Amino acid sequence: MSVRRLAPDAVQPASFAFDAANENWADQQIAKYPEGRQASAVIPLLWKAQEQHDGWLPRAAIEAVARKLGMAPMRVMEIATFYTMFNLQPVGEHFVQLCGTTPCALRGAEALKKVCQDVIGPQSTVSADGKLSWLEVECLGACCNAPMAQINFDYYEDLTPENFKALLEDLRHGRPVKTGSQIGRSGSEPVGGGETLKDPALYDGTVIGAGDWQKRVTEQRKAAAEAAAAKAAAEAEAKKAEATKTDATVAAATKPATETAAAGRPKPSEPGQPTGAASDTPAASGKVDAKSAAESAKSAGAPADKPVK
Ligand code: FES
Repeated sequence: MSVRRLAPDAVQPASFAFDAANENWADQQIAKYPEGRQASAVIPLLWKAQEQHDGWLPRAAIEAVARKLGMAPMRVMEIATFYTMFNLQPVGEHFVQLCGTTPCALRGAEALKKVCQDVIGPQSTVSADGKLSWLEVECLGACCNAPMAQINFDYYEDLTPENFKALLEDLRHGRPVKTGSQIGRSGSEPVGGGETLKDPALYDGTVIGAGDWQKRVTEQRKAAAEAAAAKAAAEAEAKKAEATKTDATVAAATKPATETAAAGRPKPSEPGQPTGAASDTPAASGKVDAKSAAESAKSAGAPADKPVK
């Protein structure tokens, strides 16, 4: 991590002001925030100031942003010195940010620093021709293709002292360069190409049955639907049978009680029975007391003093 200091007074401009277009842009950014929260626009305004001032922030620009937002200059200074996206020193036309964090260091970033020193010069200084400057920075999130560097807004990965030196020279002389991996790998796939998903059958449909896979899937879906319908029908049938069985059980349980109550009762239609006889009278139940029997025997000529057996 490099020390974050303002540039020497010798290179500091006397003043800074947004040009008309940027002033208008800044007003639009500030208007996005609620009243009293205008300080929230400090990052975009500092970024725009840096863009206007050849890629770096002089003290005057920091103070101009503070005035614009009604902030204490020190508060804006704290922000500008904290974020490495803000350059506090002049930068070259091609500003190289070389990653020096562990993964890149393990993959040769130290050797790349030496290239920077040899080709460009000391860190945070601009080459004599104004074309290049460099700075060591923390991880830029492309560790998988380490070592790497960001130059202006592009990443250059898989650097070696040789290809890095050639890259810097191409930039210096305005020759076209290739961004991304410098050894030809695509994205962050393994060096030498991908090792997985290489079977062509994965992409021509043969794995899932070339030609008739749609028919097969349709048949599978149809069979599944039929099975589901058959299962539902079987369940409905079973439910119906269970309900019938329950009704029969209830009927069987109530029938004997009815029939027992009716047993022994002479049917009203039987001969010799008065149709209006109450079913619960002694006559109806077939039982008669001794008095009634004696009276019957007497009327039939039997001795009255002999009990009827
Ligand atoms: S360590 Fe260099 S990009 Fe992450």
